[in-house]
Amino acid sequence: MPRPKILLTRRWPTAVEAVLAERFDATFNIDDLPMTADAIGEALRTHDAVLPTVSDKLPASVFEGGAIRAKILGNFGVGYNHIDIAAAKANGIAVTNTPGVLTDCTADIAMLLLLSVARRGGEGERQIRADAWKGWCPTHMIGTKVSGKTVGIIGFGRIGKAFAQRCHFGVGMDVVFYNRSIVDPAEAARYGARQLPTVEDVLATADFVSLHCPGGAENRHLMNAARFAAMKPGAFLINTARGDVVDEAALVVALEAGVIRGAGLDVYEAEPHVPERLRGMENVVLLPHLGSATEETRNAMGMKVVDNITAFFEGREPPDRVA
Ligand code: DGY
Repeated sequence: MPRPKILLTRRWPTAVEAVLAERFDATFNIDDLPMTADAIGEALRTHDAVLPTVSDKLPASVFEGGAIRAKILGNFGVGYNHIDIAAAKANGIAVTNTPGVLTDCTADIAMLLLLSVARRGGEGERQIRADAWKGWCPTHMIGTKVSGKTVGIIGFGRIGKAFAQRCHFGVGMDVVFYNRSIVDPAEAARYGARQLPTVEDVLATADFVSLHCPGGAENRHLMNAARFAAMKPGAFLINTARGDVVDEAALVVALEAGVIRGAGLDVYEAEPHVPERLRGMENVVLLPHLGSATEETRNAMGMKVVDNITAFFEGREPPDRVA
């Protein structure tokens, strides 16, 4: 039996690529350049599995233009809003993701952003690197205390819970959250958190609002001009979820007008593009989508994909099938 022919759209951790090369007839992206939509469409017609990442776009149009050979998309990542799931299903293609293994690292990045923006870590670093620090004084670069403040979490899934735990038990914050479904209060209390009925209730209560919901149509521009205006004066926004959850143009206006005090962002609407006006603001901490970027987590994500496609081609149900 010939081995299934698979294609990776980007370079993956070396150890994971080695396992894939042993088990499959694998095409690697040696140059690690993002693939065009046309190239991804061609891969779907010539390979049994395509393994995309968040940096790829798979709209309905990539599934058009000829007979599709691919039977599975083994996504390297938990979020899959870059894939048109309906179009994949319509073409009989299974889709898997990598839940669980990036929970802690993504929650850590949210905490890094919260602390950095509150305590002006980015500004301080830039000042020293510019050799502009004049020395300690009582009024220098004064930030915002986080202990005792309230953080509001939108989306209480794995990452939202891990972030709540860090905020409450790590730095002594009160934690409220909004979640579409009701969470058992005893379960919420394990993370030091309390559910509120609406997004607006969270915005009215929180000194820091942190987004942990999925991207895609249902949450597109969940944070818009009206919702920035509904945040407490002087509050901060943290986004480690997906760029499209925030109306980026409205965020820029809200920051420039002082409607909110600052933002910590790991994700953007049109990555890797980050609006120049955001890049120019001192009260904004900007990271290049680092949520899952640790050696341990990226290896674990890759091995989840290995498990998913191995199960699929052995005729078993892939453990992390989402479609
Ligand atoms: C994910 O897994 O969805 C991340 O955003 C990519 O690291």
